[in-house]
Amino acid sequence: MSSPAPIESYAELLKQGNLVVFPTETVYGLGASAWNPKAVQQIFKTKGRPGDNPLIVHISSIDMVKQFTDQVSGRARTLMQKFWPGPLTLVFPKKPGVLDAVTAGLDTVALRMPDHPIALQLIELAGPLVAPSANKSGRPSPTRAEHIRSDYGNSLPLIDGGECDLGLESTVIDMSVNPPVILRPGYITAKQIEEACGFHPEMATYSASDSSGPKSPGMKYTHYAPKAKVEWLSTEHITLLNASSDNSGSLIVLHSMDNPVNQPHKGLKVMHFNSDYRRLAHQLYDCFRKADFDKVKRIYIEPFNDELIKENQPVEALQNRISKATGSRSSQL
Ligand code: TXA
Ligand code: MG
Repeated sequence: MSSPAPIESYAELLKQGNLVVFPTETVYGLGASAWNPKAVQQIFKTKGRPGDNPLIVHISSIDMVKQFTDQVSGRARTLMQKFWPGPLTLVFPKKPGVLDAVTAGLDTVALRMPDHPIALQLIELAGPLVAPSANKSGRPSPTRAEHIRSDYGNSLPLIDGGECDLGLESTVIDMSVNPPVILRPGYITAKQIEEACGFHPEMATYSASDSSGPKSPGMKYTHYAPKAKVEWLSTEHITLLNASSDNSGSLIVLHSMDNPVNQPHKGLKVMHFNSDYRRLAHQLYDCFRKADFDKVKRIYIEPFNDELIKENQPVEALQNRISKATGSRSSQL
């Protein structure tokens, strides 16, 4: 089935235990009913997702929270009221009936209310939906319908909502521990959380040598990577690019510095975001996928100034996703 079928028909598919790809404000999600164990299993199979990586349950009203947890702190309630619907996922101690397949056997469950009319209507009709980013495991998250088709062909029912507004996955904060910690940085920053409820959440970190395992299973997987090799741009790279007679396999992504490579570029591709970090977030995954399509072999990305992270920009989330794409595992999920 392809758009524009009525949304009710997609809700019907979900209720019958099928998967449906739908848009959210962050990235496209691969949805299944949160109460159907077979459908939830099918998500892991379809994505090629490791079974120990739990799923986020998407809800359309604060009232739905109580189906999944009965331990909502005052702080958590404040965050829901302030940021939902929106790109913030809250992790709670789960109620006993919540499917093990959803939480990958953890005693916590992640909940989020997406800020997208199609997603909200679909959940309203079909009930709570688990929805990981709809990419094949290990690929960049999809922000356009064509990204889904490139990973799965036309094999999945897909609601085409155009380009996702934000382009990076939600902030994940663990409210089941005291003090709460950020497991994955996203659009909602630690500073915004502090302004909303008076505490500054720290980032959880994970290193592969950590024997107790990560706070969140997703932390240990390399994600978001294109086939091209991604590296933070360094002075050594600039020297090499300047010395090379053929840079046609390389792309540099800049946001503040002028192009540091001498003219002519010798085939070098350059993307400049002119300090527009929202635009960079919006386009990062599309840029990765286009680079693969254009047979780019190496992507060099200008590192971020630490000062920027303190501002309300998606810079910390960008830094996290790009570090993941470089293959570094010692960062958040
Ligand atoms: O923006 C988003 O969050 C998108 C859209 C589709 O809503 N979804 C998304 O889902 O990014 P996914 O599955 O790609 O990433 C969810 C992350 C995983 O890394 C997982 O480890 C973590 O959230 N997670 C889920 N449940 C958890 C739990 N109970 N405790 C700790 N981490 C959890
Ligand atoms: Mg994902």
